Amino acid sequence: MKCSAVLKTEAKGKWDALVIGFFEGEKDSLTVLGKLDRPLKELFKHALQTKKFQGKEREIFFTYAPGLKNTRAVYFAGLGKKEKYDAEKFKGLVSRLLKHAEAQKFATLAVELKTVAPQKTSSHDLGRAVEEARVLSTFRFDKYKSKPEERKEIQALDLLCDEGLERKEVQSGIRFGRWVAEAANIARSLASEPANRLTPRVLAARAEGIAKEAGLTCKILNENEIKKLNMGGLLGVAQGSHEPPRFIILETDVKNKSQKPVVLVGKGITFDSGGISLKPANDMEKMKYDMSGAAAVIAALSVAAKMDLPFKVIGLAPTCENLPSERPQRPGDIVTISNGKTVEVINTDAEGRMILADGLSYATKYSPRYIIDLATLTGSCRATFGEYAIGMMGNHRALLDALKDAGEKSGERCWELPLWDEYREHIKGEFADLKNVGKGTAGAIIGGKFLEEFVDNLPWAHLDIASTGWFDENHAYISRGPSGAGVRILAQFLKDLA
Ligand code: BES
Ligand code: MN
Ligand code: ZN
Repeated sequence: MKCSAVLKTEAKGKWDALVIGFFEGEKDSLTVLGKLDRPLKELFKHALQTKKFQGKEREIFFTYAPGLKNTRAVYFAGLGKKEKYDAEKFKGLVSRLLKHAEAQKFATLAVELKTVAPQKTSSHDLGRAVEEARVLSTFRFDKYKSKPEERKEIQALDLLCDEGLERKEVQSGIRFGRWVAEAANIARSLASEPANRLTPRVLAARAEGIAKEAGLTCKILNENEIKKLNMGGLLGVAQGSHEPPRFIILETDVKNKSQKPVVLVGKGITFDSGGISLKPANDMEKMKYDMSGAAAVIAALSVAAKMDLPFKVIGLAPTCENLPSERPQRPGDIVTISNGKTVEVINTDAEGRMILADGLSYATKYSPRYIIDLATLTGSCRATFGEYAIGMMGNHRALLDALKDAGEKSGERCWELPLWDEYREHIKGEFADLKNVGKGTAGAIIGGKFLEEFVDNLPWAHLDIASTGWFDENHAYISRGPSGAGVRILAQFLKDLA
């Protein structure tokens, strides 16, 4: 399917359906509608007058309209109260409209752009919202079905513009929206892959492929190189699996060397059984998504490569499997992280922080402007926020504020948890510098507090995406399963930083 910004004066032919948005009880929406063809206006007025349509949120009035010039059918889409409008709800509407249109086997669809958002919404944002919703809501992961469900995709989605400048802005919005949403879909695909198909080596190879396509530099450290760097955290977790670990390094190609880089670090556990501290069987199959942080970092780098940023972005992803075996890491084992700190492994299921300890230590060597890590780190974060917010922690106000803002703009909200000194007591080691779990309370915070030990006081934020990384239910425009969490907020953050 192709989504394009189209000048009304240049629009040719007949669409299968045309979408007109309307705010509940808004008289001035009618002035926008004033520009419509007369028969369409009459049809709309009739729907309003007979109360067939009122513009309530989630209300969609659909009718075939044989008398109209440019279209065979129309959707009157309710936008609800204008003051309650938000881009997320709008993206949900786009998704529902596309589903309906696809079920009708429509090939072409047009949207009267001016009618579907408050006047103050920028054309760029509008184009972006439609395209993001379209690309995200049409994602399927059916490559392992021998007979995937047949679909008849809509071929053209035309966003109607009144003049040239508007069209240009809508176009640029569509372009950015596509970059971001396609990257999020890459992350969803990676996280949807089962662990027998996506081992650490396969993940590294996929990262190499994505890097090549995007024009990123890519370096994969193998087990020997990881050993040479003394990454005891990563090696300890990897120890229980026959599959060797990898350490993925991606870099954007930026000429301007004066600005410090932004380093992103992602947790890449391709399967988390818990290890010797074995997880219960229920829901364990979901733990294939425990590499969602790594997936988000790889995908975000693919967007960063397109963005022409004035600073370098570096993506790091330590990756391995967490399995019990005849030679696994044991509770009580003490390992040395690459920065020299020692950790007593109390619970082998707190493995994410062990591999991230090495990832973050590696990040500090770039003397970065910011370090941001993403990880499906704790069940506690999911218990706290459900599927509706990323758990955010960190040591740098401006960075956290920027991420919060980027979260709101991108539709990936995050919410801050504190890293107060008191929590540090919980992870003080008895036989080593640190232990990898606390006392069983404040799980998400303790995870963050542990990671803080490895950033060398550099500006850093931790995003716990255990909450939003997997949707148990269908969301407004992202279907159930791995959600591609982290990609959109990172892209927005980098955009704003530039
Ligand atoms: N990958 C899990 C976190 C997780 C659990 C994500 C459930 C999504 C759903 C992580 O490695 C883990 O097992 N964390 C433990 C830490 C605990 C042992 C301190 C947890 O959250 O239970
Ligand atoms: Mn675990
Ligand atoms: Zn894990």
